[in-house]
Amino acid sequence: MPKITFASTGESHEVPDGTRFLDFCQENDLPHDFGCTVGSCGTCALVVTEGGESLAPIGDEEAETVEMATDEEGARLGCQMVVNCDVTVRAADV
Ligand code: FES
Repeated sequence: MPKITFASTGESHEVPDGTRFLDFCQENDLPHDFGCTVGSCGTCALVVTEGGESLAPIGDEEAETVEMATDEEGARLGCQMVVNCDVTVRAADV
């Protein structure tokens, strides 16, 4: 099973393949902020520090919101991310 690691705390969680990061965080009260939950506000912007190359490529709409939210290279939206491999994440500087 894929594993999500939070760089800020070092805690790791195994999740079923295809788990939505948003759902997992909300169901388990995990340390990541969300706003709209539909990919438009940028509150959930994060950086995948490890494993990002195996995620689905960023789409045009997600890229537009990321650009609005942060200048960090390779940032993604936590509310849109589907976990299909081991990833380490941290909140983006917004
Ligand atoms: S929570 Fe608003 S873009 Fe993800």
